[in-house]
Amino acid sequence: MQIIRDLSTLYDALDVTRTAGDRVALVPTMGALHDGHMSLVREGRRHADRVVVSIFVNPTQFGPNEDFDAYPRTEEADVALLAAERVDILWAPTVPEMYPAGFATTVSLSGISEVLDGAARPGHFDGVATVVSKLLGQVRPDVALFGEKDYQQLAVIRRLVIDLNLRTTIIGVPTARAADGLALSSRNAYLTAPERAAALALPRALNDAAQAIRAGAPVAAALDAARAAIRDAGFTSIDYVTLCDTATLQPLESLDRAGRLLAAARIGLDRTNDFTTRLIDNIAVNP
Ligand code: PAF
Repeated sequence: MQIIRDLSTLYDALDVTRTAGDRVALVPTMGALHDGHMSLVREGRRHADRVVVSIFVNPTQFGPNEDFDAYPRTEEADVALLAAERVDILWAPTVPEMYPAGFATTVSLSGISEVLDGAARPGHFDGVATVVSKLLGQVRPDVALFGEKDYQQLAVIRRLVIDLNLRTTIIGVPTARAADGLALSSRNAYLTAPERAAALALPRALNDAAQAIRAGAPVAAALDAARAAIRDAGFTSIDYVTLCDTATLQPLESLDRAGRLLAAARIGLDRTNDFTTRLIDNIAVNP
């Protein structure tokens, strides 16, 4: 596996790949890799001859009071995992390589990026859309893979690629879960053992709500029950628990078409400081 940290080396390596006529898959990540990322790599391999993984903890998608400094950085372990999956290129740029002096462009989507996580984390999707546009421009992959765990991010990126006429096919990959059902996330590393146990309330509440809605319960009542279950488990605050249209993410009041149940909540059971971990999850609900 080639580990590349500067653009000119990346372009040279990709020129060789393109001259050979190889298809390229890109898996953008912020590192702290887990089996969810590996499932993106394996799916990428099914669609392409060469797999490029990027690791870049992107400062522009973190708010001023968010966890940019605390975000786990585990490059040595990440390199071992990627090499074992026979990844061809690890693209790991520095912050100045990505955002050189004078950088002045922001990619911003209206509508879809303003609700849910966009409302709870102002500016977050501008940072994501900008860095993903750059990564797609740098690597020019045939396909790029994103996890459904970040469902709104996936929807934002699908919209971005359509709107900017980018010629990469975006592939969403189902959420990888621990045996007990918790969605795998790099941020799970922040959880203490009691928090990890309590966090299970999130997927359970979503599954119970999905079951109730499918069985004909009013959507509002099912969402209220999910919020109560999440609070009772010890989550300190809930950003949203909602049923949305799968593409626009506009709220659905009844299950008159395919929907997505999404939740975001903060847990911080036994902290002496005010550090809390924000977890997100979502599942499909079809009529
Ligand atoms: O999902 C992530 O890890 C990040 O948001 C992404 C897509 C790599 C952009 O920084």
